[in-house]
Amino acid sequence: MGNIVSIPIINELDIVVARQKGREMAKEFGFVSIDLALIATAISELTRNIITYATNGNIFFELIEEHGRKGFRLISKDEGPGIEDIKLALQDGYSTTSSLGLGLPGVKRLMDDFDIQSVMGQGTIVTATKWLN
Ligand SMILES: Nc1ncnc2c1ncn2[C@@H]1O[C@H](COP(=O)(O)OP(=O)(O)OP(=O)(O)O)[C@@H](O)[C@H]1O
Ligand SMILES: [Mg+2]
Repeated sequence: MGNIVSIPIINELDIVVARQKGREMAKEFGFVSIDLALIATAISELTRNIITYATNGNIFFELIEEHGRKGFRLISKDEGPGIEDIKLALQDGYSTTSSLGLGLPGVKRLMDDFDIQSVMGQGTIVTATKWLN
C-alpha cells in the first residue's frame, strides 16, 4: 500500500509495458480476469492519449486502501497542450484527430472513480480507480 509505480510513456512499446505491469500489479492484489481486462483497456487508452496528444508523459499505478476498501488507482500525467473543454472530451464520439472519440468516456465507464484535471498549455492529469469487491 502506498507504493507507487511510475512508467514513462514515450513510445508505442511503453503502452505494452504499462499494460503488462498494471495487469500484473492488479492481479497480485486480487483482481479477477474481467477487471484485469478493464484495467488493461483503461491503461491503453490513457497511455495512447499521452503519446497522441502530449508526445510523452507518465502513468502511475498505486494499490490503495480507503475506508476499508482496496483499490487499484491509475494516474496518467502529461505536460502536453491540455484539454480545452473536458465536458466535451468526455462525450462519446468527440475527437480532435478524427479518431473514434471513445477513449476517455470509455475509461470513465470501465473504472469506478474517474477525474480529469487539465490546464491549457500546462498538461493533463487523469485519475481513475477500480475498487476490489
Ligand atoms: N492527454 C491529453 N492531452 C490533450 N488532449 C487530450 C488528451 N487526452 C485526450 N485529449 C483530447 O480529448 C479528446 C477525446 O479523447 P478520447 O481519448 O476520448 O478520444 P480520441 O483519442 O480522439 O479517440 P480514441 O481514443 O477513441 O481513439 C481527444 O480527441 C483530444 O482532443
Ligand atoms: Mg484516445
